[in-house]
Amino acid sequence: MIKARIIATGSYAPEKVMSNSDLEKIVSTSDEWISERTGIKERRIAGEKQATSDLALEASLKALEYADMKAKELDLIIVATVSGDMLFPSTACILQHRLGAAKAAAFDINAACSGFLYGLSVANSFIRSGQFKKILLVGAETLSRFTDWEDRNTCVLFGDGAGAVILNAVTGDNGILSTHLHADGSMGDLLNLPGGGSRHPASKETLDEKLHFIKMKGNETFKIAVKILENLVTETLKHNDLKPSQLAALIPHQANLRIIQATANRLGLPLDKVVINLDRYGNTSAASIPIALDEAVRTGRIRKDDYLLLEAFGGGLTWASALIRW
Ligand code: COA
Repeated sequence: MIKARIIATGSYAPEKVMSNSDLEKIVSTSDEWISERTGIKERRIAGEKQATSDLALEASLKALEYADMKAKELDLIIVATVSGDMLFPSTACILQHRLGAAKAAAFDINAACSGFLYGLSVANSFIRSGQFKKILLVGAETLSRFTDWEDRNTCVLFGDGAGAVILNAVTGDNGILSTHLHADGSMGDLLNLPGGGSRHPASKETLDEKLHFIKMKGNETFKIAVKILENLVTETLKHNDLKPSQLAALIPHQANLRIIQATANRLGLPLDKVVINLDRYGNTSAASIPIALDEAVRTGRIRKDDYLLLEAFGGGLTWASALIRW
């Protein structure tokens, strides 16, 4: 039985660090409020000339180096993002060209913060079906370009970054054991970016009304996220006939420390089994899980045969999880 296995990881975060105290100078907020309500201490901001594909390229090169693989060997490139370089072509096509991955098909996935896990599920299915063997999957975002820096409700939350994984077709017990995808479009207005699409094409009015920025009903989203994620992790473990104590690590989407704590509590997992880095990066949407995974892999926190549970929740609404035997 063919399985998809992550054989390499890589990540990249822009150099510029924006701390909570930097934000205190821009909007009416405080380090204390942001730390207590979100767990975030600082985030990275893309340089003036950097776009999402630039961040994706850096993360991808690191993953390819880790795998000792040439871009020419790739069969498929998937980029999960809601902040692509432009509406089209896809960021995956831009990345394919810059990597020189001439053989690879390429497309983007838009599932907001769940994008990386939606992408993992798609990659897993392609590999299991036998259509593709070597797949580069990237989560990359420059949300700072879509952030209203006058809105304290949102501007303290997001950051820029990219994480990449390379999947290969393998046989044996290790690899992706299951993925679980969900969506509920009826709650799409809780978290969206309305301007610049075909509903509200760019115009003076859309600019005046600030429709090109992320809008979020934070508190409502928070409550729904906690409930949904509790059910999602239970569903994922049950499907694999595993107990929480068998998990080596939970790798959650990094939106809010209180949401992460609630999910860990539900599983009865101590926080030292949860990979947390949102204090340093904020919410990087589709990039958050692959960045956290890369850091955990490269610091030796994850070992062969470990069971890992990855989970995310985001705009759409979408939510998704994966169970991996490393
Ligand atoms: N600094 C200081 N005060 C702020 C603030 C900031 N940056 N942002 C909001 N506030 C204020 C609000 O104006 C409100 O004041 P009021 O009571 O006088 O009206 C108060 O803090 C509480 O706001 P509320 O929205 O109820 O806070 P919260 O506890 O829900 O925390 C979030 C806000 C955004 C941190 C939290 O709701 C959250 O993380 N939401 C979900 C994010 C998420 O998961 N998104 C989906 C995945 S991307």
